[in-house]
Amino acid sequence: MKKLSLALLVLFSSQLFAAGGAIELESARIDLDNKASLQRGAKYFVNYCLSCHSAKQLRYSRMAKDLEIPPELVELNLMFTGEKIFDGMTISMRPEDAVKWFGVNPPDLSLIARSRGSDWLYTYLKSFYVDASRPFGVDNALFPKVGMPHVLADLQGMQQAVYKDVELEDGSIRKVIDRLEIVEPGRMTEKEFDKAMNDLVNFMTYMGEPAKLERQRLGWKVLMFIFLMIVVFYFLKKEYWKDVH
Ligand code: HEC
Repeated sequence: MKKLSLALLVLFSSQLFAAGGAIELESARIDLDNKASLQRGAKYFVNYCLSCHSAKQLRYSRMAKDLEIPPELVELNLMFTGEKIFDGMTISMRPEDAVKWFGVNPPDLSLIARSRGSDWLYTYLKSFYVDASRPFGVDNALFPKVGMPHVLADLQGMQQAVYKDVELEDGSIRKVIDRLEIVEPGRMTEKEFDKAMNDLVNFMTYMGEPAKLERQRLGWKVLMFIFLMIVVFYFLKKEYWKDVH
C-alpha cells in the first residue's frame, strides 16, 4: 500500500512538473441551448479553423438542423470548398503537406471538447503570445511549443508574456508566466474577443455532442443484436440437446 501511494505521488508530482508554470484555466460558459451563440461559434469555426482542422463527425446538414440555420444559408455562408450538405466537415489539406508545414498534423476537432474540456479550449485559444524563437513567432502558455500559428491574431491582436519569479523548493528561482498582456490591439476589444472565444468553444462543445448521440444509438443497436443472438442460441441449444436427453 505504501509502495503504491509512493508510486502515485511520484507519478502525480511528475505531472505537476511536466505542467510546470502552466497558467490556470479560465472557465467558459457553456450553454448548448443558446442557438445564437452556437451560430456565431460555427461561423468562427469554419472561417478560422476548418482550413487546417477537420471535424469529420459533424455533417453540415446535421449542424443546419441542430443550430436551426436554413440549409441554403449554411451552403451560402458556411461551406466554401464545394462540399455537399450531407458531407462531414473535411479539409482539403493533405496530411503529408500539413506535417511539412507545421511539423505535426492538425488533429480532427470533432471530439476535442470531450478530450480536453471546454475550459482548456477557452484558455488555450486566449493564450498565444509573442515568442520570436518559435517557427510562427508565437508560443502558447497552456501548450508550450505548440505547432499552431496564432490564427486569431487579427481579432485578438498580439499578447506578450509578463513573467514572475517563483522560488523552487531547492531555493533556486525560476521564471514562470504570470499573465499575458495585449501589446498590439486587434480588431476586437478584450471583452469582445472573450465573448467570441466563448461562442467558439460553445460550438466545439456542441460538436462533441452529436457524435455522442450517434455512439449511443450505435450502442443500442449492438445491444439489441446481442440480445437477439442470445434468444436464437437458446432455442438452437434446446433443439440440439432435445435428442440427447
Ligand atoms: C494554420 C493551420 C491551423 C489553423 C488555421 C488552426 N490550427 Fe489548431 N492546430 C494546428 C496545428 C498544426 C496543431 C498541432 C499543434 C501541436 O501538436 O503542436 C493544432 C492544434 C490545435 C489544438 C490542440 C489539439 C490537441 O493536441 O489537443 C486545438 C484545440 C486547436 N488546434 C484548435 C484550433 C481552433 C479552435 C482553431 C480555429 C480558431 C484552429 N485550431 C486553427 C494548426 C492550425
